[in-house]
Amino acid sequence: MKYDFCYYNPTKIYFGKTALDNLAGELKNYGETVLLVYGKSSIKKTGLYDKIVDILKESGKKVVELAGIKSNPTYKQMMEGARLVRENNVDLILAAGGGSVIDCAKGISVSAYCEEDPWKKYWVEFKPLDNKTVPVGSILTMAGTGSEMNGGSVITNEDEMLKNGRVFPPEVYPKFSILNPEYTYTVPKNQMVSGVFDTMSHLMEQYFSGDDDNVTDYIIEGVMENLIKSAEKALENQEDYEARSNIMWCATIGLNTITGLSKKQDWEVHMIEHQVGAYTDCPHGAGLAAVSPSYYRYIYKYGLDKFVRFAEKVWNVESSGMTKEETAEAGITKLAEFIEKLGLPLHLKELGATEEMLPLIAQSTIPGGGYKKLSAEDILNILKEAY
Ligand code: NZQ
Ligand code: ZN
Repeated sequence: MKYDFCYYNPTKIYFGKTALDNLAGELKNYGETVLLVYGKSSIKKTGLYDKIVDILKESGKKVVELAGIKSNPTYKQMMEGARLVRENNVDLILAAGGGSVIDCAKGISVSAYCEEDPWKKYWVEFKPLDNKTVPVGSILTMAGTGSEMNGGSVITNEDEMLKNGRVFPPEVYPKFSILNPEYTYTVPKNQMVSGVFDTMSHLMEQYFSGDDDNVTDYIIEGVMENLIKSAEKALENQEDYEARSNIMWCATIGLNTITGLSKKQDWEVHMIEHQVGAYTDCPHGAGLAAVSPSYYRYIYKYGLDKFVRFAEKVWNVESSGMTKEETAEAGITKLAEFIEKLGLPLHLKELGATEEMLPLIAQSTIPGGGYKKLSAEDILNILKEAY
């Protein structure tokens, strides 16, 4: 554990089939007015909306609603929520949905009492959070992002064609998150696999950095192993509780900072995907899948030993008689085969990207990288390879 760190995660997790039973108890900790934030239609179709509203009413809460949060939540929706918070003196923002709904709730929390333009202040200039926030709670219905136990909030500014992420301090993390794996049974298959690959990508973005002996890397390898196995089981039977509950917890662990401790981390695949998403509005995990093999083939030689370890430990590549390069490439091929097995795209054109978009995506991507620092030209090369 080469780099010093402080670990603090304030989110209380209620996990399992009876997790929602804890909502009433949590509500006692907050004032009268709750802003219920949710997506387009899923929680009404599944009946979860009625259950939540009943609990809120029985708890004596006044409920204000913000419905229709879209995948890749927008700045405009966030600002609408911020207005509702101010006008109604909201005491708790309760997000019921996937990562988009929870990210939007956190965005509302930091924006409601921000005296400047919050987009510019927090998502463009990355200034420190210094205004009052409103507590957020979450009821998760789709596994993948880890937003239920972290400070991340990814917002799309449609006018500026920018999708930017910001990690806020622990006061913005959900105070509590309710995780019932059964809620994820109704997630459409394309979204389920998108969430699985999002988690896989979070794990890889934290794993592919450093060459020291760090316990975090062993944790990541174990989580990856279980995620791959559970995803294959869930593909066969979407209602396999063991598989869906493992996927849900892998996703939470995958980005609640425990799998990033004492590591430098990469995150360039996410930076590229955010701009792919800004141009195509694709599901986040599908964008990550289309970029990942090309990205890793482009950079693996700069972190060769780690890519060999990935091939051998995560994908069980039998490497005797192979060079390190061959072993590393075999691991990336296994990753691409996993993407295919999930039914996710391996090419950007499958997501609606056009050749004309590629230079625009490359130029607007925040350059960075783990083993290799990328320029806009490198990013364009990767995009062309992924196209
Ligand atoms: O809108 P509704 O009707 O609810 O439908 C949603 C949406 O269409 C549907 N869905 C969710 N739960 C369902 C369900 N459908 C049926 N049954 C259920 N139980 O699934 C669709 C996708 O939902 P969304 O919330 O958009 O997906 P996800 O959880 O993948 O969130 C994606 C967003 O999170 C950001 C992404 O960039 C993207 O904007 N991320 C947030 C992160 C964070 N906070 O730490 C990190 C990630 O890397 C990621 O960037
Ligand atoms: Zn992600």
